[in-house]
Amino acid sequence: MLQAAAVGGAGGLVTKTISVHPAHVPHPCMAEIRGGFLNTELWSELPKEQWIETEYKLAKATGLPVIIGLGYTANQIRELAPLVKPYADALELSTHYVGNDISPIINALRAAKAAVDVPVFMKLSPHPNIQEIAIALEQAGADALVMINSFGPCLSIDLETGLPLMGSKEGFGWLSGPAIKPLALRCVYDAARAVKIPIFGVGGVSNGRDAAEMFMAGASAVQVCTEAILRGPSVYGRIAKELDAFLDKHGYQSIEEIKGLTIRRMAEYDALPVVRPPHVDVERCNLCGLCEISCPYGAITKGEVLNIDREKCFICGLCVSRCKLQALAMER
Ligand SMILES: Cc1cc2nc3c(=O)[nH]c(=O)nc-3n(C[C@H](O)[C@H](O)[C@H](O)COP(=O)(O)O)c2cc1C
Repeated sequence: MLQAAAVGGAGGLVTKTISVHPAHVPHPCMAEIRGGFLNTELWSELPKEQWIETEYKLAKATGLPVIIGLGYTANQIRELAPLVKPYADALELSTHYVGNDISPIINALRAAKAAVDVPVFMKLSPHPNIQEIAIALEQAGADALVMINSFGPCLSIDLETGLPLMGSKEGFGWLSGPAIKPLALRCVYDAARAVKIPIFGVGGVSNGRDAAEMFMAGASAVQVCTEAILRGPSVYGRIAKELDAFLDKHGYQSIEEIKGLTIRRMAEYDALPVVRPPHVDVERCNLCGLCEISCPYGAITKGEVLNIDREKCFICGLCVSRCKLQALAMER
């Protein structure tokens, strides 16, 4: 699969997290759900020996940078890092199952830094206090942050049997895919304002526009998992091409111009943006009525053209976000 990802246009490979012992993965462990994806995969079910003897070599043979995923405690990292060192262009430590106390994460980072001289990236779950954790990890020597891991625990139920979709003990799984993109963006944006080390944005990137959003939030690179599981390894090249097309269409010369753009744009406002009711572009509007149906304030009516009652309009913005033709626009 790593080789297929390379053929599919990936710019680098992140290998599945391994730990000292193979994971006992409950079954079923993956499901597509509306707007996202649930998994209860833990770490790799393959023994570390298979990775070291076979899989990493195959990954290295692609010629791409290989980022080796390891978990979880300092002792486990101390044992694993020297073993994977010959194949690692960087290590990525997953912190998903270490809990909320930050000291085990810092200790794992220190164990990795002591064992290898390649960069060590720290993969984070979507904590509410992500800035605090990001700062602590930067100070402890992390070379980059990767955020976010899947979000949970979550539950989805098979209506035919009444049983949870996931075969884990409590039936819970971890959410990924489009549903978690806003959460990932918030984390990237928060962390990017707090630290100087690079951030890899991951969570719900399905196309080039999603990738552009991650860069605008402050990411220096993006990772993609669920989209490749659902649509195959060619998504990597497709997303890269779409990102290129987005940059061209908007007149950006390079990705540097959009990196952290949202942070810079927000800094330009010293108060909340002043907004007026949306402007209607009558040339573009086809009177489909989507905005009228969902206006909670009854401010939109269709006549010969679309009318917005300026007294009733609460400037909530919903109609603008729903219009498929970009016929409605907010002046900020
Ligand atoms: C089936 C599956 C297995 C995953 N395994 C790991 C893993 O071993 N280590 C890890 O750090 N993250 C793992 N993740 C999390 C992803 O790397 C990623 O952080 C998350 O799914 C959000 O990105 P996405 O929406 O592009 O999938 C896994 C996700 C899925 C869906």
